[in-house]
Amino acid sequence: MFKSAIHEDSWPIWMAPLTRSRASQPGNLPTELHAEYYAQRAHPENGAVVILSEATPVTPAGHGYFATPGIHTPEQVTGWKKVTQAVHAVGGKIFCQLWHVGRVSHVSLQPEGQPPVSATAVNGGGKTYIDADGTRKAVSDPRALLESEIPAVVEEFRLAAARCMEAGFDGVEIHGANGYLLEQFLRSGINDRTDGYGGSLDGRMRFSLEVAEAVVREVGSDRTGYRISPIGGEADGQRHDHNMLETYGTLADRLAEMKIAFIDVVESFSVGVREEGLDRICARIREAFDGKERGLYVAGGGYTRETAREALDSGKCDAVMFGRDFISNPDLRRRLREDLPLTPWDRKSFYLGGAEGLTDWPLAEEKE
Ligand SMILES: Cc1cc2nc3c(=O)[nH]c(=O)nc-3n(C[C@H](O)[C@H](O)[C@H](O)COP(=O)(O)O)c2cc1C
Repeated sequence: MFKSAIHEDSWPIWMAPLTRSRASQPGNLPTELHAEYYAQRAHPENGAVVILSEATPVTPAGHGYFATPGIHTPEQVTGWKKVTQAVHAVGGKIFCQLWHVGRVSHVSLQPEGQPPVSATAVNGGGKTYIDADGTRKAVSDPRALLESEIPAVVEEFRLAAARCMEAGFDGVEIHGANGYLLEQFLRSGINDRTDGYGGSLDGRMRFSLEVAEAVVREVGSDRTGYRISPIGGEADGQRHDHNMLETYGTLADRLAEMKIAFIDVVESFSVGVREEGLDRICARIREAFDGKERGLYVAGGGYTRETAREALDSGKCDAVMFGRDFISNPDLRRRLREDLPLTPWDRKSFYLGGAEGLTDWPLAEEKE
């Protein structure tokens, strides 16, 4: 869909998925405020080439933080329609990021107060916020999904993808990154199953690939992207994987065979930090997603104007995704292209609250 547009554009900058926790209650609905926020960042010249929506739970059990807008009810579809119409009205494109948090949740956010579900019954640690005041609680002990329950979860992703089309999204991105449900199945240090969804790499990849196949069947491969984060696996005890190169290289090969439009690779969580071994993994993924015969490689995580330019010019990726800088610079692409100063972001307004810190960021001054 956008290969030709990407290759003709010297600043192919995308907006990363960013949870902002401002869904209206009850019902976790996207509102006019969401429409305004995304439209501000959708300008075809100055905003993102493609916007990835904030992570959007596909089912009630997929929620793990307060006030994240879902895509599992008709009212949510109606809310998202406002967003896609506003983005399209200014000439932009928006994909919906499909999310299931798995074990990163608290019983108070789960249907009927049930334990969150996962690949495992082991608690992953960490905290989440459970109300509008930002009260933080330790994540609850999960329950391992039964093998017989997994097809229904795959179906929830497919149905959510169908609802995204109804809501007018240009496509969907499957959230396979950052420690959530798909990654809980994928990583050898988390997945302790002995059934057909565990054990060998094929077993551990099975859930992710079934979700991708179901989504591709529903919306088409050219409207499907997939986010991975091949980091944190060596050092992080909670997210360990014994062979990151093999795990992510093989997964990328399988996804590329499905001819999905792009792979979105979270390469870092902070500016200037790249894990040892990451470059080999990225090069391996680049072979699978060459941006020519195969889908695009979209790089993200800790990029600056300089490192983005370097990565694009060297052919390491086809586009670069920016997260935090897009929060405080709605016209980020113009600022990068014209080398204008960036407004610094403010962590205090990342999550919860209203318009403040969401829709009130200034555009760069017009040049004389
Ligand atoms: C406030 C905030 C919310 C985020 N929400 C999501 C999300 O919903 N889905 C996701 O995949 N990543 C999420 N991330 C990670 C970003 O997409 C991105 O990978 C990260 O910010 C690093 O990129 P950056 O250095 O350009 O900000 C979030 C990050 C921040 C700061």
